[in-house]
Amino acid sequence: MSNMSYELYPEDERLTGKEQVALNFYFITALLVFVAMMALGLVMRMTQAKWADAGSVMFYRIMTMHGATMITTISMASTAVMWYFLRKYVRLHLWTFIVNYVLYVLGIVQIAVAVFAGGYAGAWTMLYPFPAHSMGLWDNFAAASFMLGYLTIGTGLLIFYLDCAAGIIEKYGNFTNALGAIWLFGGEVDKNHPAAVVVSTAVVIANFLGVLAGAIAVVLSLINLYIPSIQFDPLVMKELIYWFGHMVANATILMGVIGCYELLPRYTGRPHPMTRGFIWAYSITCVSVIFVVPHHLFMDFAQPEWMAFTGQLLSWGEGFPVFFVTAYFVLTSIYRSGKPWTMPSALITLALFGWAAGIVPAILDGTIMVNRYMHNTMWVDGHFHFYLILGALPLVFALMYHVARRHLRTVRVWAVDKVALPLYLFGGLVFVLAFLGAGQDGVPRRYSVHDLAWVSWDKAGSIGAMLIILGMLYFATSITLGLLQRSRE
Ligand code: HEM
Repeated sequence: MSNMSYELYPEDERLTGKEQVALNFYFITALLVFVAMMALGLVMRMTQAKWADAGSVMFYRIMTMHGATMITTISMASTAVMWYFLRKYVRLHLWTFIVNYVLYVLGIVQIAVAVFAGGYAGAWTMLYPFPAHSMGLWDNFAAASFMLGYLTIGTGLLIFYLDCAAGIIEKYGNFTNALGAIWLFGGEVDKNHPAAVVVSTAVVIANFLGVLAGAIAVVLSLINLYIPSIQFDPLVMKELIYWFGHMVANATILMGVIGCYELLPRYTGRPHPMTRGFIWAYSITCVSVIFVVPHHLFMDFAQPEWMAFTGQLLSWGEGFPVFFVTAYFVLTSIYRSGKPWTMPSALITLALFGWAAGIVPAILDGTIMVNRYMHNTMWVDGHFHFYLILGALPLVFALMYHVARRHLRTVRVWAVDKVALPLYLFGGLVFVLAFLGAGQDGVPRRYSVHDLAWVSWDKAGSIGAMLIILGMLYFATSITLGLLQRSRE
């Protein structure tokens, strides 16, 4: 089997002219936004390091813009990964993919207006009833514009997911068949059942509910904003908001990892047959990611104890199984494959590392005893930046490079890639370890002004961020040029 050869660019993945244009918009927009938001992130980190001074009012505006835009943009980019592969197996309508993009752009514009014109600075988590209590820093219009931005982006995602759901049901009859759950307890697993379909089904089920929870929270918060006498239970609102936030952030890596199962076999010559273990892993994740949300509220004494306990158990169940099956596949796939490294295979391997290392601090923090110490410290920024910068982003870059370098004769790693990739990795490590180290020292997150005793962590973090941005500038330029050149073919 290991000598099997795979076509790098199979015919059933060929993009029509319109599809290529749509994908280019997704990819190039994501790259531009990543660079811009990383620059804003650097301003924040340098302000904490006392190398710059954004001022506290601007710091929180930047933090809000950075958090909200980064999460929605990585979600938009990994949606493109899911679309790229899922459309081979089920019928998808290009218009829903385009509508999702247009609503994303409109949503980001609303968020930018809310933050930079209206002064909204209530963080991307828009914790109820915070948006309505600005202490004079922003008005209702700014808070509403921010939340409506989310609603617009969420609507696009829901439309796209409905199209995916319709396509999956049309082809496989129901979600159970598509997820492969019919083989959970027996029967011969169809080895050719596509991983892209299993993962997309899990994502559609779980993230649909997550986005819906967010939409409900936004509508209720908007009602409270304009009719303050109508109030809601803050605990329920927090559960809804974190259900949305946690789910959307997790879905990014799940959508992105589809590219790993699809692309790696082509670059290593090793197949990815469907197995019962794989189906179990995604079924467990699909269920636990929906109910894991109470782990964000360990410190909220009003939350019933059984919910906190469930949150802790599911934190362990959610992360491990899918990671385990993916790690096993990636490692056995690259080990002595005899194939040269390429940007997609190197980026996928990097992503596996980032994902692995990123979930360890996450699972630790999802454990009540640890959370008592690490809650709302820089540890939290450390774990999610780890898995986003070194996990989710490289997964998306892998497909971007795969598509962008199609017109070239060779897919080998270029000399400049050999510099940019380690630079990004090294910068990323310095950056996230500075967050984790500060967290371990008890440095609180979301403070614009830092105590002098914390500043060395901030300086190290700022240097790491500069290196990430250098690597990122190269990725963005080389991918964009490749995509545009390919379009002219
Ligand atoms: C060079 C790259 C980056 C830099 C320098 C950076 C910097 C920062 C800083 C300084 C904070 C606030 C830390 C604090 O709590 O005090 C932050 C928060 C955050 N960042 Fe990043 N970041 C980068 C990349 C990313 C990426 C790639 C993503 C997601 C795809 C991301 C998502 C977030 C989120 C969601 C928050 C939380 C905001 C909040 O607490 O409300 N960041 N970042």
